Amino acid sequence: MTEITAKSIDEALRKQLDALGTSVESREVGTVIQVGDGIARVDGLKDAMAGELLEFTNSEGQTVYGMAQNLEEDEVGAVLLGDVTAIKENDTVKTTGRLVEVPSGREMLGRVVNPLGMPIDGKGPIKADGTRPVEFKAPGVIYRKPVHEPMQTGILAVDAMIPIGRGQRELIIGDRQTGKTAIAIDAIINQKGKDMICIYVAIGQKASTVAGVVETLEKYDAMDYTIIVNASASDSAPMQYIAPMAGAAIGEYFVYNGEDGKPAGPENKGRAVLIVYDDLSKQAVAYRQMSLTLRRPPGREAYPGDIFYLHSRLLERAVKMSDDMGAGSMTALPIIETQAGDVSAYIPTNVISITDGQIYLQTDLFFQGQRPAVDVGISVSRVGGSAQVKAMKQVAGTLRLDLASYRELKAFTQFGSDLDKATQDQLNRGAHMTELLKQGRYNPMPVMDQAVAIYAGGHGYLDSIPVEDVVRFRGELLNYLHASKAEIFDALNKEQKFTDEIETDLTAAIEAFKLQFAPSA
Ligand SMILES: Nc1ncnc2c1ncn2[C@@H]1O[C@H](COP(=O)(O)OP(=O)(O)OP(=O)(O)O)[C@@H](O)[C@H]1O
Ligand SMILES: [Mg+2]
Repeated sequence: MTEITAKSIDEALRKQLDALGTSVESREVGTVIQVGDGIARVDGLKDAMAGELLEFTNSEGQTVYGMAQNLEEDEVGAVLLGDVTAIKENDTVKTTGRLVEVPSGREMLGRVVNPLGMPIDGKGPIKADGTRPVEFKAPGVIYRKPVHEPMQTGILAVDAMIPIGRGQRELIIGDRQTGKTAIAIDAIINQKGKDMICIYVAIGQKASTVAGVVETLEKYDAMDYTIIVNASASDSAPMQYIAPMAGAAIGEYFVYNGEDGKPAGPENKGRAVLIVYDDLSKQAVAYRQMSLTLRRPPGREAYPGDIFYLHSRLLERAVKMSDDMGAGSMTALPIIETQAGDVSAYIPTNVISITDGQIYLQTDLFFQGQRPAVDVGISVSRVGGSAQVKAMKQVAGTLRLDLASYRELKAFTQFGSDLDKATQDQLNRGAHMTELLKQGRYNPMPVMDQAVAIYAGGHGYLDSIPVEDVVRFRGELLNYLHASKAEIFDALNKEQKFTDEIETDLTAAIEAFKLQFAPSA
């Protein structure tokens, strides 16, 4: 396979001469023996490390970077990052002794970058504070503490039923066009004023779709605290493969450094970061393509055997750091696209098993008009409950029960006609509560608004109004309360829970509002 060319002999000799030198820097020089599909086979790099950054230089002196992947006996398989067409056979390759890194720092905020951290938004260069490695070993358990603060999405169905804590990994999974991205974008918009840094990693999407996301975030003033990492469908497979890791690295800067850019510690708080990987199915496909081109043995569904490890390494980087380490956090919302609802395919099962919970989105719910199309029956959050505010916990329990018995009864009574009063009441309550979970895009609700809305439903104040009026009732009730009973929210925010006093005031206020509410039918 390895071709002996005049150049490689020359290089081999030169290297032996170099080895005689006194320099302690070990930079090996090798030669490209074959290149294609963004993959280069390199001869003469005996000491290259897996994942090491390689520097390719073509005959015109142009430099392209690559990453060492396959370390074989007589050659190194590397992926090219950047202009893959610039590199030809016989071009030189140098090891760098460094892993692939991305620039990081506060200057990245508000910018759109590629997976190498280079700006692609036409707003000029970025002055980075430093760099961080794309692959980073997640901190061990002694540096962490349990998840305990909420990461509110502003989406009622999620915050009430599937609460997410800072530092948690919550998967958003569903078929195409079920509103996966919408949930993540709403969660980012809801972080406004909450001292959260958001990172949205777009993998294998159309450039126009990502441009739409940027536009939306700008419109809702969310770009000030957001960084977008984009490896679009037209980028090479290696770029799509490293994009999530690059996003994590950019986020880690904020977790492990304080506001002043110095390392976080007991005196210097780390920041809270929310990172969205949209989506890891496309990253998996890119990694499969890359691995097949590198001739790694294919496994199940032709994915390479280490794809599970790739995703677990990535998602382990979501953390809640201990107070000694600055208490920073990185919350991860990976997204997975399923085919016809099949969650038992290889990649979905992998990522389900790595994450701390799943938000399942269903096509049929979406088309029935239940949006967000969250299937609350099978969605879970295994750790977020401990991060939920008390007031929400108080009302969410009954909501869960109401919805569960509704689902059961509905299936059971589908063909029955005479139902006793109790059953009818339960069905009626369930239908109203299900309706209450509907929410348009870009309408994040503060958590106490959500709690009050669920309180009203759970105490039967919605039962007598037409189902199609529920969403309007919710909106008008909250407007009314904010306008003329603001003291209720003040008390709720102070106490963080429903006290007897608050409940008395709130019930009176809801009853007063109900008298003036005009049902549509
Ligand atoms: N809560 C909602 N209310 C109304 N429309 C919604 C809601 N959520 C999503 N949509 C609409 O549904 C469509 C699909 O949403 P989105 O792009 O988020 O889905 P997706 O699952 O990310 O799709 P894809 O698989 O193409 O990435 C969009 O037109 C979006 O505006
Ligand atoms: Mg999407």
